[in-house]
Amino acid sequence: MKLTLLRTVAGIALMTGAMAHAQSDYPTKSITMIVPFAAGGPTDTVARLVAQSMSKTLKQQVIVENVGGAGGTIGAARVAKAAPDGHTIFLHHIGQSTAPTLYRKLSYDAINDFEPVGLVTDVPMTIVARGNFPAKDLKEFINYVKANKDKVTYANAGVGSASHLCGMLLMSAIGTDVTTVPYKGTGPAMNDLLGGQVDIMCDQTTNTTSQIKSGKIKAYAVTTKNKVASLPELPTANEAGLPNFEVAVWHAVYAPKGTPKPVIAKLEDALKIALKDGTVKQRFAELGTEPVAENRATPDALRTHLKAEIDKWGPIIKKAGAYAD
Ligand code: MLT
Repeated sequence: MKLTLLRTVAGIALMTGAMAHAQSDYPTKSITMIVPFAAGGPTDTVARLVAQSMSKTLKQQVIVENVGGAGGTIGAARVAKAAPDGHTIFLHHIGQSTAPTLYRKLSYDAINDFEPVGLVTDVPMTIVARGNFPAKDLKEFINYVKANKDKVTYANAGVGSASHLCGMLLMSAIGTDVTTVPYKGTGPAMNDLLGGQVDIMCDQTTNTTSQIKSGKIKAYAVTTKNKVASLPELPTANEAGLPNFEVAVWHAVYAPKGTPKPVIAKLEDALKIALKDGTVKQRFAELGTEPVAENRATPDALRTHLKAEIDKWGPIIKKAGAYAD
């Protein structure tokens, strides 16, 4: 009996030692950063900038893998089931907080199947249209959409995406509804907006800024309380005739539930360094956004924020009845 006990204790000590060794050596191979939308979109843009910097700090490649579909929930489900060893991480946005209400049969728990690492950035959204859309300002945009609701098409990245959320709130605010055209991300959606195959969209400045500045698409408002420095000519929705219309898209990094604390600490540290990286800050500024304050790039800050956002958006979505399933 004593010998068996001794062997068991020795086995546990060995296993614990091996785990501690693995954690102290982390990362031992490249890291996959799942982005739940197609390449070339606003979430992908944020992810690749952060991943590039984290690779330098972690001394292993952080490779972005785009897993699009169903408003970001397919990518989220993939991460929820991934090995909790720190070599799969997740960059997602406000959709992590809206999916639990939008999808009544979600295949994962948005809080309990993930370990929060930290918040990344808050991105303004812009109400935009194809280049030849027949409206010169937001008031004319609203009148035209309402008068042509059976003709106008609205692009989004699927139910659960930020572009879907903004569109749902916009249609509710102006008292109409139009045909939506879902894409695997607003990267591909932007291609169709530029080509005139789809009429309007509400998307993040990280995807719309360059197209607005080039004049290839029309922009009517930013959805933030204040104007955006990189788009000084664009009024806020409030100024342009849509009072109290505010939507900002926050992004964050997660790991699968069970990822060891020392690994989460290394990821948190690499994220904080990325948010101070000169290239990241400059590109964020050019695209209308900025990194969050360091005290928000933490597991506790993200855990608190995610819960508050689920509680905030739940009643709004239920009131709009915008369920996906
Ligand atoms: C969204 O609409 O949620 C995202 O902007 C989609 C994307 O990043 O492609």
